[in-house]
Amino acid sequence: MLLVKYGLILLIFKLFPLCCNGDRIKHRMYIDINASTSCFRRLNATHQVGCSSKRAGATGVAHFCEVENDLTFILKNGNAGPYIPILPVSLWSKKILQTLEKSSKVSGLLLYMNNETLVSFSHDLQCPNENYGVENTCSKTDDLKWNSGGTGILFENIRFPVFYIDKHDDIKTVRDCFNKFNNYSYDTQRDRSLCSVQLNSFMFGAKNTPTCIRRSNIATNLNPVRVCDPLGDKNVWASLFPLATYDEKTDKIKPILGQKYIVVAARTDTASFFDRTSGADSPITGLVTLLAVAKLLKQMLPKNENYNTNVLFILFNGETFDYIGSQRVLYDMQNGNFPIETQNGTAEIFPVIKPSDISLFIELSQLSRGDGRVFAHLYKVDSKNTNFTERLRTNMAASISLQKSEGTLPPSSVQTFLKKYENLSTIILTNHLRAFSNKFYNSIFDNSTNINYEYLNIGPSSIQQHLSDVANTISKSIFEEITGQTYTAQNQKVSELVDELLHCYLENPNCKIFQAVGKQPQQQQNRPFNLYVGVDGNTNKATTLLGFVLGWFVGDIVGESNENCTNISKNYAFRFYNMSVSMNDLNNTMCFRMVMNFTEAVSPAFIIKDYDWSSNLYSSWSESTWGEINMRLFLKPSTSHESMTMAVGCLSLLFSSILVYFIKSRSHILFTPESIQPSPVDC
Ligand SMILES: *[C@@H]1O[C@H](CO)[C@@H](O)[C@H](O)[C@H]1NC(C)=O
Ligand SMILES: *[C@@H]1O[C@H](CO)[C@@H](O)[C@H](O)[C@H]1NC(C)=O
Ligand SMILES: *[C@@H]1O[C@H](CO)[C@@H](O)[C@H](O)[C@H]1NC(C)=O
Ligand SMILES: *[C@@H]1O[C@H](CO)[C@@H](O)[C@H](O)[C@H]1NC(C)=O
Ligand SMILES: *[C@@H]1O[C@H](CO)[C@@H](O)[C@H](O)[C@H]1NC(C)=O
Ligand SMILES: *[C@@H]1O[C@H](CO)[C@@H](O)[C@H](O)[C@H]1NC(C)=O
Ligand SMILES: *[C@@H]1O[C@H](CO)[C@@H](O)[C@H](O)[C@H]1NC(C)=O
Ligand SMILES: *[C@@H]1O[C@H](CO)[C@@H](O)[C@H](O)[C@H]1NC(C)=O
Ligand SMILES: *[C@@H]1O[C@H](CO)[C@@H](O)[C@H](O)[C@H]1NC(C)=O
Ligand SMILES: *[C@@H]1O[C@H](CO)[C@@H](O)[C@H](O)[C@H]1NC(C)=O
Ligand SMILES: *[C@@H]1O[C@H](CO)[C@@H](O)[C@H](O)[C@H]1NC(C)=O
Ligand SMILES: *[C@@H]1O[C@H](CO)[C@@H](O)[C@H](O)[C@H]1NC(C)=O
Repeated sequence: MLLVKYGLILLIFKLFPLCCNGDRIKHRMYIDINASTSCFRRLNATHQVGCSSKRAGATGVAHFCEVENDLTFILKNGNAGPYIPILPVSLWSKKILQTLEKSSKVSGLLLYMNNETLVSFSHDLQCPNENYGVENTCSKTDDLKWNSGGTGILFENIRFPVFYIDKHDDIKTVRDCFNKFNNYSYDTQRDRSLCSVQLNSFMFGAKNTPTCIRRSNIATNLNPVRVCDPLGDKNVWASLFPLATYDEKTDKIKPILGQKYIVVAARTDTASFFDRTSGADSPITGLVTLLAVAKLLKQMLPKNENYNTNVLFILFNGETFDYIGSQRVLYDMQNGNFPIETQNGTAEIFPVIKPSDISLFIELSQLSRGDGRVFAHLYKVDSKNTNFTERLRTNMAASISLQKSEGTLPPSSVQTFLKKYENLSTIILTNHLRAFSNKFYNSIFDNSTNINYEYLNIGPSSIQQHLSDVANTISKSIFEEITGQTYTAQNQKVSELVDELLHCYLENPNCKIFQAVGKQPQQQQNRPFNLYVGVDGNTNKATTLLGFVLGWFVGDIVGESNENCTNISKNYAFRFYNMSVSMNDLNNTMCFRMVMNFTEAVSPAFIIKDYDWSSNLYSSWSESTWGEINMRLFLKPSTSHESMTMAVGCLSLLFSSILVYFIKSRSHILFTPESIQPSPVDC
């Protein structure tokens, strides 16, 4: 009788799934962990890398480990599997990954932030972007491994999902759940209900980029599904002097032709194993130094007094993934489409800038203070970069020693250019001679602690003072290069500006500088910007803001701020914006005119018609799309309980079948048969 009763209840539940607080039961069964972040999948021309769960998610019994030894239990004796080990992030290494991949008892992995001091944490390759740079500039055998601590896990194809949590409350929730249900008499785990984890991160894209681009483009009206998108964002460029003259009377724009350009470049992106980045040393130190150089040069050289050299600031995006941004800029330059697209390579608004117009290419790479040395890498030595290095040495602040390194070429955007134009005169400024001094390259721990940054603490040996000294040196040297004269005025003080810029990027995007350019983010988010390149068609707010800040630094004040300011720009040679006069006087705004714009940072591979994917000429990275990424805890019933449920389910099925059969066979007794009226044929 009891069975019949339960069978009926079960039936009712099955029949009326919408009523009866089904939602609340779900909430009682699952605890959502909201602040988790996960590893996702990327693809290139030949491989897929990263992680994906099964379509329905990965589930496993939670096993909270504090030290590596705690893992041995599940690998050797675990009997209630599959398991999802919960490991401190400090243990995340290639060795552990290989162990877990081999074990059939592991269905996922959860990493948590612990307080251990990390020595090194970088998941990029030891030779980043090796196949797309100049050959033989990184070697795996001798000491010239730029990212010597790199595990390469970022480019591994992992068979299970990997999540990361760092909020103290979340870690505690998981740990308490494990302690309450799992952390005793491991031998009897099979017979108990166990605290379990569900990780959902199913990725639609698979195999490689050509395959998934093809799948995304299949023209079926029924179900157009994008399974992957090319990685990409925007590059930012600005010039110190205008690129065109504008005659107000005739309203005519004329490009200024025949100029040489000194390029000052840096990268803007970073990456990490998870969907979150920090990027303090790379790229923020280089980027902030570039911005400070722009500000200083504008003060030193407010106008072009018939110089034949201009300065072009370029910020490349997507460089982490085989130099996406620089490849595209070079491709555009070669096709006459830089700085803006032209119809047939003819200059109308701006001069068409070709690689041969670049007289010197200065790249600002990782520049955190370290031991106070700055290295100038000259891959090919010529009189141009030798002379400039001499200028840098003369102008360098006493606290910094500049060292020249000939023949070395660290991973950098300029590699893209050197690959095609080997005689381009280049200098790369870094804080390391051979291996990176940054042990957290492209990871979540390349944070403010890593570069010893403290807001408002501008001591003589602070990172702020250091970057400001480096920026002063570079600006003075460029001044001398352009004017042919020695710079005699006092050093400009930019350490406060550097301090504020670092604060904007590392701590709080609602900072004074981002407010000053008038384009501060709509939502008041307090988490620093994610500097991962993201996918094409989705411009990162950080990139847009970067453009405005750079434009603000090189811009001229042309009048009062009013609603007509932004309307002056009928001629496209300039952009006009109302911006604050200074970061310390936000309410005092003026109308600024600047020469700044964005260009596409999407690999040429995705725009060349019938591109041959096997040619390996250009970066081919794309990112898989996904439906939902989430993580939750639940109580998995014991094996015996599960068998019981199954049995009850079968019984109730049997019971209801019999019931239905019985009712059907006796239906003529139970229900009065409907008498069928003959339909009237004739009225
Ligand atoms: C997660 O988010 C849901 C809905 O937004 C909320 O109800 C729940 O309390 C959150 N969980 C935690 C652990 O913060
Ligand atoms: C890390 O340190 C903080 C503050 O000292 C402490 O509250 C927290 O519990 C520690 N976290 C772990 C996982 O030990
Ligand atoms: C794609 O990525 C994998 C893993 O990093 C690498 O081995 C392979 O060479 C890459 N393929 C191309 C065409 O770059
Ligand atoms: C599991 O229990 C043992 C023994 O009680 C304890 O030492 C250990 O800290 C517990 N594990 C966790 C993750 O709390
Ligand atoms: C390029 O286009 C411009 C304007 O459309 C035109 O004046 C010029 O003759 C064209 N040049 C060539 C080589 O086609
Ligand atoms: C480099 O400096 C030397 C000596 O001052 C000078 O003769 C030479 O022309 C310079 N080279 C360039 C490319 O400016
Ligand atoms: C680069 O310079 C070398 C020596 O001056 C010359 O032999 C070579 O042809 C140049 N290469 C290019 C691409 O101009
Ligand atoms: C930066 O990372 C280190 C781990 O190397 C960590 O101890 C520190 O708390 C992090 N700092 C910030 C500001 O997140
Ligand atoms: C803006 O331009 C319009 C039309 O030219 C003019 O009427 C208006 O007075 C201008 N506003 C200001 C604040 O100058
Ligand atoms: C300026 O341009 C905006 C949009 O382009 C327009 O709505 C506004 O009326 C213009 N203002 C003036 C004064 O012309
Ligand atoms: C910026 O670039 C876009 C795309 O090339 C172009 O349409 C626009 O005119 C440019 N604007 C300025 C002010 O250079
Ligand atoms: C700037 O303007 C805002 C709002 O208009 C006001 O709240 C703030 O006090 C002003 N700041 C200064 C320094 O005047």
